Amino acid sequence: MELSLTSGKKITCSTDTSILEALKLAGIYLTSSCGGKGTCGKCKVIVKSGRVDSRSKIKLTQDEVGKGYVLACRTFPSEDVLIDIPKESMLVVEGKVVTGKSKDLQALLSSTGAEIKPLTERTVLQLPPPTLDDNISDLERLKRELFSKGMACLRVPFRFMPDLAKTVRKKNWEITLSTIHTDDCDEIIRITSGDKKTPQYGAAIDIGTTTVVVFLIDLSSGELIDVASTYNSQIRFGDDVINRIVHATEHGKLKELSDTVISDINNLLSIIRKNHHIDVETIDCVVAAGNTTMTQMVLGLDPGAIREEPYIPTANAFPLAFAGEIGIKVNPNIPVYAFPCVASYVGGDIVAGVLATQLYKKEELSIFIDIGTNGEIVIGNSEWLVAAACSAGPCFEGSGIKCGMRATEGAIEDVKINRETFEVEIQVIGDADTKPTGICGSGMIDAIAEMFLTGIIDQKGKLQKDVSGRVRAGENGLEFVVYSGEGRDIVLAESDIENIVRAKAAIYAGFSTLLMEVGFTFNDIQKIYIAGGFGKFLDIEKAIMLGMLPELPKEKFEYMGNTSVTGAYLCLLSRKLRSEAEEIAKKMTYLELSVSHSFMNEYVSGLFIPHTNIDAFPGVKKLMTK
Ligand code: FES
Repeated sequence: MELSLTSGKKITCSTDTSILEALKLAGIYLTSSCGGKGTCGKCKVIVKSGRVDSRSKIKLTQDEVGKGYVLACRTFPSEDVLIDIPKESMLVVEGKVVTGKSKDLQALLSSTGAEIKPLTERTVLQLPPPTLDDNISDLERLKRELFSKGMACLRVPFRFMPDLAKTVRKKNWEITLSTIHTDDCDEIIRITSGDKKTPQYGAAIDIGTTTVVVFLIDLSSGELIDVASTYNSQIRFGDDVINRIVHATEHGKLKELSDTVISDINNLLSIIRKNHHIDVETIDCVVAAGNTTMTQMVLGLDPGAIREEPYIPTANAFPLAFAGEIGIKVNPNIPVYAFPCVASYVGGDIVAGVLATQLYKKEELSIFIDIGTNGEIVIGNSEWLVAAACSAGPCFEGSGIKCGMRATEGAIEDVKINRETFEVEIQVIGDADTKPTGICGSGMIDAIAEMFLTGIIDQKGKLQKDVSGRVRAGENGLEFVVYSGEGRDIVLAESDIENIVRAKAAIYAGFSTLLMEVGFTFNDIQKIYIAGGFGKFLDIEKAIMLGMLPELPKEKFEYMGNTSVTGAYLCLLSRKLRSEAEEIAKKMTYLELSVSHSFMNEYVSGLFIPHTNIDAFPGVKKLMTK
């Protein structure tokens, strides 16, 4: 049976394969933030003709039903079907943000003073052909040539021996060796005939609980070729790491969880490769950063002990793995470097973040916060580093928010509300004519801060019906219409606002409790580095107004974007920074906040906008009384 798209493409499908799966098999990826569970509503397609069996779990609006919308993950074709995929359902590949981003990354790399020395290096050798006088073996010939070039120690794994004779002779004794440098020696990971020095690429990966981001990097220049990101499909096994650990251990599904996230990585890599016509054999190494559970799952390690007292991971520093061992679809012999972790609840993503900020080299006292699914905070300087985690939840990444989405094309990232007319002005990620398809973390923070200032919500985050004319009754209670126009309305429901207020309270409580525990106050802090998937920018003033960040001078804050993938980028390109990352992981100590009374007290006080203790926010107080 055939699934046709309005774009003209035709796909063979069957009655027991969902439209989402059939599209995926054909290389067409839809946003599926619940991982195909049927609860997020992000995978909508329009059935133009043909009968389908639709088993939707969530209620679609009358208008959507009338137009033929169905959830692709819950719909199975019963006969030949023609569908249209709305733009907002397509998985976004962020090729457009690359230009500026590449320059920023390259500037950051050079500011560290590290030279480009990728995890994998390529060397072209012209071996002298053997003669009756020079009749040493092929392997000795190869080693002799390398020793003459200064490579003192070389390990050649046996797997390269069967083809060695053929490979060295194929292009007149010219070969390219790919090697990795381990503690004491260089090891061959690939031998090819001829000069294959360039192009040489590497992948830097952030394995988040909610999202997976892949950077493809030119290893000779450090240039960022492209970025692709998606929701982590493991979400269908649970939103947080605990549920996923339970699924992996109690249901014996570790392999399923590992395969799921590896398949996300493979899909993203394949999208970038196809877009840029990049041969898979030119990818030479992979560096991945993630929290401890995600790292273990990618490597296929049982995470069970992370959840049980005394909360022990299998390893904090991982031996190098190879792509073929974990299922990444590149040459099976290429190395996969997993960022070192600190403890069960402070992972490689945080080490990568500290590396990206370089705060461990500075005398001044700084704070680093990564607002992802969990919300991890590090405080310290060149002498010491202490980390803690506060459960903020994935709402700023769009998960659990009715119209929430990641900071990709179509996301509302900036919101202003006119004080008199309550007209809403929005800024959308993309071209000038890009229509909004949802709202991302920075848009949510802006919207709620503005709604608070204009009296549309009260200090508890409750929507006020009669203030703006933009509050209406939705399927699950009141909602504020951020945008209404072409396509679907973008709203913030009261339950979304509650979610965001809880998340911001957890973040602020994390800050204040950690500072208290180490004996400092906000005034001792010289710099606050903020990481998270907020897109190009985060409006610091609005985040202060919401009570998510402390009220400090604006110049003390620096928004760094996704530092997990930035750290992976740095380690992909520099041997020196890889050892610095390992030092950071060893140096950092972990403080458990969830058992602290002050954390709970601080959290409850933070469930108001901006905070119960309004005197901690004098600037916001002034604005409120205007
Ligand atoms: Fe289909 Fe979430 S509803 S992927």
